Amino acid sequence: MTVVTFVILTLFVGLFLPLTNGCPFNGSTVNLSSRLSNTSEISESVFTFCNLSYGSITTIILSYNNIKTIAAGAFKEFFNLENLDLSYNLLEVIDNNTFQTLRKLKTLDLSYNSLTNITRGTLDNKVYLVSLNVSHNKISYVDSNVFSVDHINLREANFDWNEISTFEPWPYSLPSDINEDRNVYIRHNNISRFTNYMNWTYNLKLPFKIYVYLDYNQLKTISSNDIQLYNQNLTDIESFSEFLTYRLNVSNNPYVCDGRIYFWAFLVRNSFLKWNRVESYRYRCNLPKDLEGEDWLHDVPYSRLVTNLTEADGCPSRCFCQTRPYLNYTLVDCGGLGLVRFPPILPRTKYPHLVLNLSYNAIQQLEETYYSNNIVQLYLANNKIQTLNESVLMLFDNNIYLDLQNNQITRIPKSILRFEYKNVSAGGNPLKCYCEMTWMIGWIKKVVVGTNQDLSCTADDTNVHKIVDVTPSILKCTHEDWIIIGAVLGVVVVTIVIVGLFVKKCPYETKVMLFKIFKIHPRDKYKVDKQVGNIHDIYIVFDEKTIEVLKWARDIFLVKLRRIKPQYEVFNPHQHVKPGENTLGELAKNLEQSKRVIIILTEEIAKNEHREFECNFAEGEYCEKSLEGKVIYIKFNSKVDKLLQEEPWKTRVSSKKVFSPDDRLFWSKLRYELPRIKNGSNRVHRFPDIRIETTVTTGTRIQNAAFDTLSTTPVFDYIS
Ligand SMILES: *[C@@H]1O[C@H](CO)[C@@H](O)[C@H](O)[C@H]1NC(C)=O
Ligand SMILES: *[C@@H]1O[C@H](CO)[C@@H](O)[C@H](O)[C@H]1NC(C)=O
Ligand SMILES: *[C@@H]1O[C@H](CO)[C@@H](O)[C@H](O)[C@H]1NC(C)=O
Ligand SMILES: *[C@@H]1O[C@H](CO)[C@@H](O)[C@H](O)[C@H]1NC(C)=O
Ligand SMILES: *[C@@H]1O[C@H](CO)[C@@H](O)[C@H](O)[C@H]1NC(C)=O
Ligand SMILES: *[C@@H]1O[C@H](CO)[C@@H](O)[C@H](O)[C@H]1NC(C)=O
Ligand SMILES: *[C@@H]1O[C@H](CO)[C@@H](O)[C@H](O)[C@H]1NC(C)=O
Ligand SMILES: *[C@@H]1O[C@H](CO)[C@@H](O)[C@H](O)[C@H]1NC(C)=O
Ligand SMILES: *[C@@H]1O[C@H](CO)[C@@H](O)[C@H](O)[C@H]1NC(C)=O
Ligand SMILES: *[C@@H]1O[C@H](CO)[C@@H](O)[C@H](O)[C@H]1NC(C)=O
Ligand SMILES: *[C@@H]1O[C@H](CO)[C@@H](O)[C@H](O)[C@H]1NC(C)=O
Ligand SMILES: *[C@@H]1O[C@H](CO)[C@@H](O)[C@H](O)[C@H]1NC(C)=O
Repeated sequence: MTVVTFVILTLFVGLFLPLTNGCPFNGSTVNLSSRLSNTSEISESVFTFCNLSYGSITTIILSYNNIKTIAAGAFKEFFNLENLDLSYNLLEVIDNNTFQTLRKLKTLDLSYNSLTNITRGTLDNKVYLVSLNVSHNKISYVDSNVFSVDHINLREANFDWNEISTFEPWPYSLPSDINEDRNVYIRHNNISRFTNYMNWTYNLKLPFKIYVYLDYNQLKTISSNDIQLYNQNLTDIESFSEFLTYRLNVSNNPYVCDGRIYFWAFLVRNSFLKWNRVESYRYRCNLPKDLEGEDWLHDVPYSRLVTNLTEADGCPSRCFCQTRPYLNYTLVDCGGLGLVRFPPILPRTKYPHLVLNLSYNAIQQLEETYYSNNIVQLYLANNKIQTLNESVLMLFDNNIYLDLQNNQITRIPKSILRFEYKNVSAGGNPLKCYCEMTWMIGWIKKVVVGTNQDLSCTADDTNVHKIVDVTPSILKCTHEDWIIIGAVLGVVVVTIVIVGLFVKKCPYETKVMLFKIFKIHPRDKYKVDKQVGNIHDIYIVFDEKTIEVLKWARDIFLVKLRRIKPQYEVFNPHQHVKPGENTLGELAKNLEQSKRVIIILTEEIAKNEHREFECNFAEGEYCEKSLEGKVIYIKFNSKVDKLLQEEPWKTRVSSKKVFSPDDRLFWSKLRYELPRIKNGSNRVHRFPDIRIETTVTTGTRIQNAAFDTLSTTPVFDYIS
């Protein structure tokens, strides 16, 4: 009976109480590890068989069971629970209110389950939570609100060995200003890129103690683009130093070493970071194969950090396209493909400068393209280019390198001057020499010493000249003569116009000038010149009592007149006519027999008896009217103006030639008016000096006595 009872009891206990060895409870810890193998759901009833005092429980261990679900409210009585271990179970889903009442929870271990989803609210209010372990699950989604600033005590969160495929910055939802390390492990996941669906903006603060481990993921590249997702203000240059504040460990990822990672490598190698914590920042290449295991941040040569582009990136078919960040350009190599035109589309990259190789094709001309001004090197050697389109040349950058060797170019346009000679290779072209090409000499010579200056051209289809040696005479250019002739003609036309205007305005001066310059005498025909029997060329009248005029007449006027050719003979009455009985008669006779009468007008001429007579006589007062052209007045100075306002002078001078010694053309005009006689007639005048013996002490009048002593020798001798 007792045996049966024992067996029944044992069966009963075995049926309803899995805990065959009594309640696994020592006052604070419930250890149900491996004890619930046939239980798939944890509910409140699991704990009721023990005489538990819920408030004293701080630890529940439920590991190594087959728990699939946790019923709502299963833990609701354990308000002092601090540690909950649910590892090694079969949990797939945890409702977000499962742990709602566990306000004292410090450690939560959910590792080795089959969770896929950490939903919003799961860890709400877990102010004391220090450690979370959800490693070795199948988590692919972590709600962005799983952490919050409430989690001030969290030191470790382990998400290793899950299936998270993108990095969302939820670890940084933890409070950032706590000066203790917080580690969030997301190692061994499937993260291949950074995302920001949660719209986080960078707000990290010193001391930057949130460490996030992303090693052993699937990151193939990392660059400023990734963290610019979280801070749009960030420049490329600032990006790496900001990246350091994320405390992200992204080592041990299968990096593809190409152009995308160049910039950070450049930043690190050009800063103190080059020597700082090198071992923790060994980012190693996975691809390409020959760089596998190399540390791209520190060691891989820049020249290997390039990206091959595909047709999908815009690379023209059959061409080879590569971005070369270290040279800051994109290479497009379409050499030897039989192209007849420039490629219409080229890849658009972060490196807009283009090196375009189109050598060994069949291109016939430079083409304008949307990328023309991005080209820094253009290789067009061995094509079929005949002419260089100037408008396309103007599109190129000034510093472009242009290889045009071995084409059909015959003439280089002047707009090539935009480029330095050393940047243009034009050899192997059938360049023709032409007259205007001398500008090329300066262009070619303006290069550094040692540059090949041998560019040559062909003249007359046979003679080859180095362009630097070409001169217009070698090329037999007449061009320049025409320019000179043109210029001279221009000057002549202008001169003629000016002369024409002058002639129109001053016809008399024109005649005088013509006579002066060309000795052409468009002579006004004076009747006096037809008179025969005139023995004197000139009869000069001046007031010898005015000393200035006497001096001027003697020292300047007569002297100069003497030098003039042809030489005139001058009759000077007060020198040659003796004062005496028939003075006036003598004067009149000589006046009549003179071809010209030159009257030097001075203020007081009318007061001089003889002179006044002469004037009147010459003006024809005593006989028939004077002949035109015979009387020439010389206005000695402006003092005479007053005299000339009065009659009879006013009338006299109005119709006569009146010259002034101040006039620039005085002598020319005078000569023009003087009678024409054959030059070299060998008449020589002897002008006896007019002596002024008495110095003038009062006024300008010379004493009569002195006048009387003037020489009375004959005026002239004729040699022939
Ligand atoms: C537990 O499950 C095993 C098989 O999985 C079974 O043999 C055993 O009887 C079950 N025990 C109880 C108490 O249900
Ligand atoms: C209960 O057991 C745990 C672990 O076995 C131990 O750490 C704890 O001190 C024990 N508590 C008491 C009151 O014995
Ligand atoms: C809980 O129980 C299991 C086996 O029943 C044992 O291996 C483990 O060490 C116990 N844990 C603690 C903390 O006592
Ligand atoms: C349960 O424990 C309380 C005190 O902690 C005790 O009074 C009571 O008798 C116990 N019941 C059983 C079935 O052990
Ligand atoms: C729990 O999750 C559900 C569904 O995802 C959600 O609607 C609810 O707001 C969450 N609870 C809390 C407290 O966040
Ligand atoms: C879970 O993580 C915690 C803290 O990181 C650690 O102590 C514990 O051993 C982990 N559990 C397992 C099963 O790895
Ligand atoms: C996570 O759980 C929530 C609510 O249970 C669900 O709406 C969401 O689709 C799940 N996400 C994933 C990735 O399974
Ligand atoms: C990892 O992610 C990629 C896509 O990013 C996916 O194709 C692959 O199946 C994922 N692997 C695992 C183990 O989840
Ligand atoms: C993030 O911003 C986008 C666009 O502003 C919005 O569509 C999306 O709903 C936002 N996501 C969250 C998690 O707020
Ligand atoms: C970016 O700049 C804007 C305006 O200058 C500023 O309001 C914003 O806070 C900046 N964002 C960050 C992440 O610094
Ligand atoms: C790019 O292409 C060149 C030439 O085909 C090849 O040698 C090199 O390995 C390629 N690089 C990458 C990163 O694919
Ligand atoms: C590279 O080229 C771009 C495009 O012209 C220019 O803006 C940039 O300053 C260059 N970078 C360097 C480092 O020279």
